[in-house]
Amino acid sequence: MSLSVKHLLGIKELQTQDIETIFQTADNFKQVLQRPIKKVPALRDTTVANIFFENSTRTRTSFELAEKRLGADTVNFAASSSSVSKGETLIDTVNNILSMKVDMVVMRHSASGAPWFLAQHIDASIINAGDGTNEHPTQGLLDAFSIREKLGSLKGKKVAIIGDIMHSRVAMSNIYCLQKLGAEVVVSGPPTLIPKHIDAMGVQVEYNVKKALQNCDAANVLRIQLERQHKPLFSTLREYALYYGINKSMLDALDKEILIMHPGPINRGVEINSDVADGKHSIILDQVENGVAIRMAVVYLLSGKRELPE
Ligand code: CP
Repeated sequence: MSLSVKHLLGIKELQTQDIETIFQTADNFKQVLQRPIKKVPALRDTTVANIFFENSTRTRTSFELAEKRLGADTVNFAASSSSVSKGETLIDTVNNILSMKVDMVVMRHSASGAPWFLAQHIDASIINAGDGTNEHPTQGLLDAFSIREKLGSLKGKKVAIIGDIMHSRVAMSNIYCLQKLGAEVVVSGPPTLIPKHIDAMGVQVEYNVKKALQNCDAANVLRIQLERQHKPLFSTLREYALYYGINKSMLDALDKEILIMHPGPINRGVEINSDVADGKHSIILDQVENGVAIRMAVVYLLSGKRELPE
């Protein structure tokens, strides 16, 4: 049980077997998480630094819980309250943290490629917790793991990714992960939020959201990332909600049941209505729950430990 990589920088670099190994390990950890004592002493001798240069609720909390449930020591570092604001470089910041005997770094950064840059300059294993618009590998893994849990194998399943594809690292990691597992991917949303040449990745483009929903087994709905849009790409949020927001009547009109997913944070009434986010099709909170097991698996496998404790 080991991975072909030293770091988890992106799903693009993983072998399909790596993803299967992560899922099998996460299956074991998910069982641990159902017990009264939700901990194993696998990483008692390991210290992990969670370094977040961008805001996060789910990913940062989920990594910290995953590390603690493996028995690791954790340190959390938010750039906004650190010496980065005094001009310290990324490498100096991380090297200072590593000199305090930290073994592994989990990092989120607004710059695409920041974890690759870091991996060339430090020895510790790095886990990408989201870099700019590039990848969010643990989100891609937990999303695919959640579909597998509900529908069985991903092979031959159709997954629609709906919304702001252009600025979404979640979309990229989902596309790589789902395709490696044999699923078909369709992207849907306004033409201005879908990259021009995305079909070169082997995904289908369907601008009509209702058709995308009709032809999928699962729909992963994405947030509009206004913080990454430097010029207007659609008229108003109200108009976006009208044409591309997912509401219950759209799901009622389908001739089958589909899974509704969202990586969070949700903008209710924009890309998804509350009657869908909280409705019977939604597996949004299952995704969050599975995130801890997936991150336990990734941290454990990259630690190089060989024996999985009972
Ligand atoms: N899904 C996700 O990355 O959420 P956070 O930004 O809260 O970590």
